Amino acid sequence: MANPSILILAGDGIGPEVMAEVKKIISWYGDKRGLVFDVSEDLVGGAAYDVHGKPLADETMARAQEVDAVLLGAVGGPKYDNLDFSVKPERGLLRLRKEMDLFSNLRPAQCFDALADFSSLKKDVVAGLDIMIVRELTSGVYFGMPRGIFEENGERVGINTQRYTESEIERVARSAFELAKRRGNKVCSMEKANVMESGILWREVVQRVHDEEYPEVELSHMYADNGAMQLVRWPKQFDVIVTDNLFGDILSDCAAMLTGSLGMLPSASLGAPMENGRPKAMYEPVHGSAPDIAGQGKANPIACILSFAMALRYSFDQGDEATRLEKAIEKVLADGVRTADLMGPEGGTPVSTVEMGAKIIEALDASL
Ligand code: NAI
Ligand code: MG
Repeated sequence: MANPSILILAGDGIGPEVMAEVKKIISWYGDKRGLVFDVSEDLVGGAAYDVHGKPLADETMARAQEVDAVLLGAVGGPKYDNLDFSVKPERGLLRLRKEMDLFSNLRPAQCFDALADFSSLKKDVVAGLDIMIVRELTSGVYFGMPRGIFEENGERVGINTQRYTESEIERVARSAFELAKRRGNKVCSMEKANVMESGILWREVVQRVHDEEYPEVELSHMYADNGAMQLVRWPKQFDVIVTDNLFGDILSDCAAMLTGSLGMLPSASLGAPMENGRPKAMYEPVHGSAPDIAGQGKANPIACILSFAMALRYSFDQGDEATRLEKAIEKVLADGVRTADLMGPEGGTPVSTVEMGAKIIEALDASL
């Protein structure tokens, strides 16, 4: 059988810097664990615009559709700020998400003990936290029609429409239940069924998918505003949270920040299963291209490396190897190794992007 395939799109700014460390880790898995990937690389964002005059070439898009997983760095930067909207770097990213139909966006909020002091919440509220927010990514109020700003009775009215079909809710619910089976076996679905019809349908369909297909998973429902409160009050009560595009946008940012730095946050976007049973998938750090520190070797590569760990788990069925990588990162942090973004007010000497990558490889070696 062919090796599993990965397309690397490092992008702009710190994207290529953090991706360079991921590439070393991919090679480590080939050399030390016999997990050989067929890796190809291409351009996205400003880097693609510089060569093709658009932020994603058609050939790159076609390749993304074929591979088992896309790993993306970051796109954008001041050099491209004045480009026409249609060729802005972010459009490359949006095209990938849209054409691959990546409807299920996974954002973990995971707190490494060594960084628990970094949270704005009390240490015992976040230490050991490990939850996953599943946000529906391709429908809902960001896409529903009608939308626009219209004239009505002599004044303007702004309109967006929250709209979900049963099949859209079903597929993201399945994605959440499948995840829960590999984790803590618990799903909490969040909507506003008290005031929104789309929320009533959401609750009903999630419950039906549960009863018919995943009765063994524990399911609860919560109004999204209460969910926001509970996330801050006692986040460890959750395992998997599934919610719509708008609430997911807000709740995932809120949950992610429980754990500290932007340089630590990975994400996955999954679509429908391909012929080989793997979901269409793109993995990327939550952060952007960080032009303020690009080219200086200061970027924290951990968000991008954790995104690869998610790929191991969700695309390649290598949950144990994903855990090995996460544990290696935990060890390095516990040893006090810090990039600049992880330095507290007490100061100290930060390590560079490359040094952080090397320390993680050392910890991987030590895990054998
Ligand atoms: P940003 O995430 O690039 O940076 C925000 C702040 O966090 C900066 O001070 C940056 O230095 C720091 N930071 C981010 N990642 C870091 C890391 N790995 N290690 C250490 N520090 C890190 O967001 P910003 O500044 O709003 O946007 C910069 C550019 O990135 C813009 O062109 C924006 O459009 C683009 N962007 C791209 C995204 C993507 O590719 N998914 C997401 C967000 C922004
Ligand atoms: Mg957001």
